[in-house]
Amino acid sequence: MADQHYFEVGGVGLLVDLTDGDPVIAHWGAPLGAAVPDASALSAAVPNSNFDVPIRPSLVPQLSRGWRGRPAVRGSRGGGAAFSPLLALTGVEEGQRSLTLRMADRLVGIDVAVRLSLRPSGLLLLDGELTNTGGDPYSLDRFDLVLPVPGRATESLDTTGRWAREKHPQRRPIDQGSWVRSGRHGRTGHDATAVIAAGTSGFGWRSGEVWTLHLGWSGNHEAFVDALPSGQTVIGAGELLEPGEVVLAPGETYRTPTAYAAYANDGLDGVSARFHAWMRARPQHPSSPRPVVLNTWEAVYFGHDLATLNELADVAAEIGVERFVLDDGWFGHRRNDRAGLGDWWVDPAVWPDGLGPLIDHVRGLGMQFGLWVEPEMVNEDSDLIREHPDWISRPAAGRTPIEWRFQQVLDLVNEEAYEHVLGRLDALLTEYPIAYLKWDQNRDQLELGHDGAASTHAQTLAAYRLLDELKRRHPGVEIESCSSGGARVDLGALQRTDRVWASDTNDALERQTIQRWTQLIVPPELVGAHVGPTTSHSTRRTHDIDFRTATALFGHFGIEWDIRTASDDERAGLRIAIELYKAWRDVLHTGRVVRADAPDPSVQLTGVVAHDGGRAIYSWAQLTTSAFETPLPVTLPGLDPERSYRVATAAPVPAHAAYGRGRPAWLAEGIVLSGTALAVLGLPMPILNPEHALLITVEAVA
Ligand code: GLA
Repeated sequence: MADQHYFEVGGVGLLVDLTDGDPVIAHWGAPLGAAVPDASALSAAVPNSNFDVPIRPSLVPQLSRGWRGRPAVRGSRGGGAAFSPLLALTGVEEGQRSLTLRMADRLVGIDVAVRLSLRPSGLLLLDGELTNTGGDPYSLDRFDLVLPVPGRATESLDTTGRWAREKHPQRRPIDQGSWVRSGRHGRTGHDATAVIAAGTSGFGWRSGEVWTLHLGWSGNHEAFVDALPSGQTVIGAGELLEPGEVVLAPGETYRTPTAYAAYANDGLDGVSARFHAWMRARPQHPSSPRPVVLNTWEAVYFGHDLATLNELADVAAEIGVERFVLDDGWFGHRRNDRAGLGDWWVDPAVWPDGLGPLIDHVRGLGMQFGLWVEPEMVNEDSDLIREHPDWISRPAAGRTPIEWRFQQVLDLVNEEAYEHVLGRLDALLTEYPIAYLKWDQNRDQLELGHDGAASTHAQTLAAYRLLDELKRRHPGVEIESCSSGGARVDLGALQRTDRVWASDTNDALERQTIQRWTQLIVPPELVGAHVGPTTSHSTRRTHDIDFRTATALFGHFGIEWDIRTASDDERAGLRIAIELYKAWRDVLHTGRVVRADAPDPSVQLTGVVAHDGGRAIYSWAQLTTSAFETPLPVTLPGLDPERSYRVATAAPVPAHAAYGRGRPAWLAEGIVLSGTALAVLGLPMPILNPEHALLITVEAVA
């Protein structure tokens, strides 16, 4: 009888074959239905000049089993011994939708376990652990989590980026060899890929089969596609370890970060649906309406002054803002970015009466108060580092890493430094009614070290411990994961925070791409999106208020601009957008995110459809000039084909946003159409100038 386990959950099938004591994922993808075959009976042919048995990618692919791709576990003992494990199954624990596979190599002296857990959303979670069962230290180089993909997955996709331009997709054919995305930033990184994906030819947002993997980790990492001449392809991801970074004493265990895997047969929207559903089902997922934010950074930068900030708060409250966030500049001697990080006490020179007067004013206006911190960092020009120069994380005693934004990393692996910063943050949260922390982390550090050994692994765990402990002590406080914009967007960080700052650019055109791809895995309610100044500070592009608000609406909406200087038109536009956001945030923040594979690359359609199919809101953004005189009719995906819908524009199209001599008639008073008509025929669109957007609301009629 076949020794195998089959799970089918949420439209995903997972078949694990345990024949010969070597766990193999025989299938991960479409459901197989009732007649699951005996996987071991489907063994492949054996070619000439090859191993004498068919070779399959084990759950933990290894040299000893003939896998000539990237081995998943690498390590050794003193002098290079024990370099090639031969793992054999020692135990199986089956849960309702999970399987833990325990393996061991007694000679090499390691126990390995991989837990596979298929969630109701169809998301597959993988966790690994490795224990040194030998009598001397075992130095671990790598432990990847790996999944096979079928040969019909011929194209890969991942995202890359840089500061103020995160999450841009890159695609390529899967040729033989390894495509490896390495992150060596000491943090997740601006270039970190949202997922490593393999899919069928031409897969898009709405079509194609696609297999994806995301590593929930905020330190160094690798994600890869490995395609072998054998015809076998795997995708995988794991922590990237420096030599000697993880040395396990006898009995000690290393745990991998969790890898999150989504398969979909309906394109990348299907992948998002699994990630979003899984995240939304977590007990800690924010359940209150996401408040409209005003952040002070691009409004005043370091120019902190109570009267100015009070005025800003007055205007904010008047237009409907619900949370006021004081950004960098309130502590230490922080008059610019050269000094003060580490000194987490309120600067009496700027705030003679502490933060109390501002907080009272903000709360008196009915808004929550939020505060910026960067707990993992220090300036060398700080009282903290003058007192404790040895608290800087460094690769070796006597060597100080190159500065980045005039700052260094606080060595959180040093328990005293950790306790110090925990104590300061705890004191702040105890003293003041702070509802929200914008938790920043603003530098790459490629040589994080503690006591002369690489410490990115330990530093990342210490940062997690700090977040977890503060959450435990102050459970009501929400935390944003910011890292020079979007350099810490990963599910490891998001397991202990409540939103991400997707990018430091508030330029709406840039944001159209960044938010789209960040939301491949992160649901919109966790993606901070702000309306920036009229002329963007990061690109100097000027955008009208309609485009800026329409872009920010499809996330956790906020404003980051000195709105005291906003024109009457701009204030009116903000009011309209805030009302719309409040009326639609229940849909925007719980519904299914849909994107269209537009035949015209100059436009981008993004929508969110309520789960009952009764309401939806779409943004149709004209990014560049179009090749067409008249826009191609736009089909609205995700609606119920059987229902009728009233379709209308949510906000008037400003006169200068459109050109041409006539606009489609439906724009004046709306139109009722069936879900089928909207999906098949589509809607005619006005001729928009580039960098404008039309918001469309859709509501079912009885
Ligand atoms: C980082 C953040 C910004 C802002 C500044 C403050 O760059 O990403 O949003 O908070 O730090 O110094």
